[in-house]
Amino acid sequence: MTDQSRMMEASLPSSAYLDDAAYALDKATIFEREWFCAGREEDVPEAGDHVILNVAGESILVVRDRAGALHAHYNVCRHRGARLCDAQNDARWGVTLDAGVVARNMIRCPYHGWSYGLDGRLLAAPHLQEEPGFDKGAYGLHKAGVATWGGFLFLNLTPDAAPSFEDGLRDPARRLGNYPLHALKTGPTISYDIAANWKVMLENYNECYHCPGVHPELCEVVPEFRKNGGIHLDWEAGIPHRDGAVTYTRSGTTTRSPFPGLTAEEQVRHKGELIYPNLMLSVSMDHAAAFILWPQGPGRTRIDCRFLFHPDEMTKPEFDPSDAVDFWDLVNRQDWAVCERVQSGMAARVHDHGYYSPMEDYSLDIRRYVADRHGR
Ligand code: FES
Ligand SMILES: [Fe+2]
Repeated sequence: MTDQSRMMEASLPSSAYLDDAAYALDKATIFEREWFCAGREEDVPEAGDHVILNVAGESILVVRDRAGALHAHYNVCRHRGARLCDAQNDARWGVTLDAGVVARNMIRCPYHGWSYGLDGRLLAAPHLQEEPGFDKGAYGLHKAGVATWGGFLFLNLTPDAAPSFEDGLRDPARRLGNYPLHALKTGPTISYDIAANWKVMLENYNECYHCPGVHPELCEVVPEFRKNGGIHLDWEAGIPHRDGAVTYTRSGTTTRSPFPGLTAEEQVRHKGELIYPNLMLSVSMDHAAAFILWPQGPGRTRIDCRFLFHPDEMTKPEFDPSDAVDFWDLVNRQDWAVCERVQSGMAARVHDHGYYSPMEDYSLDIRRYVADRHGR
């Protein structure tokens, strides 16, 4: 018998994908510590706009202030902890409370009327202002970190101990430097509810060993995926399509123009980035598919797949994104189907871990990323 440990690396233990305790560790060491993608800047386009995001169980209020700056706050009042924005709950009880972002310039708690500026400063606390020694400066909203890159919105739940935002994005920013990501706008979005751990989808995204069997249509457009799990491909330069194909659609072609600023090679190739921990970004010459993962529990993940296009194309009367969207939706459903099989199969009592073949070298990075942080 040969020494298999030299041939193949062990995956994370199955418990890392299945157990509540492992999920709690993912939350504590990754989602509550790292910068993670939470949408696009265009979700809060104007001064006074806001959005509420549920991030690994935490409710976060993102607002744009009058000067155009973004702020992120925990959606909780400093007084007795009431949710500041929760119209859904009011609707459940059939009541209308004067609360949340009021008049686009103030955040108001409905309970005892404390009000905050969009930047989180406490502006007023009824009757308390007259109390001697009451210092409004001590009761600002709890902050989350907020940053943007390429039009994407990122949050950090522990801003005082956050790693460098720029360092984490340096390599993807260089590789995608010619793509006008910041200018792109979201066309259709498809939200998928997948019965699998978030790490299963990351590992699946990072290898093409599965492509010949799972994605026959994709392999028609990128025949190189049939060879050796695509491990020989230079993702930095972009992967080549078959002759005559330039993008991820069923035909490999489209009527949309290439993004401005691309090199001749980028106009006929495809690039993919995994921006840890939760943004999978696939970029063609005419569109991008941005997959934002929202872990819901050890065995459940929502993925918002946002299709991004150049606004010049979107305003054309003949604009029709369906060639890209339909093709991606097919490829995505193929992926989610196998990911769910992995999640259910891993629960077998005899399966304590799997293996990464040499063709899954990039998936091994996920084990390293997770293990590093769990050990922190
Ligand atoms: S809990 Fe918000 S004002 Fe009292
Ligand atoms: Fe796939």
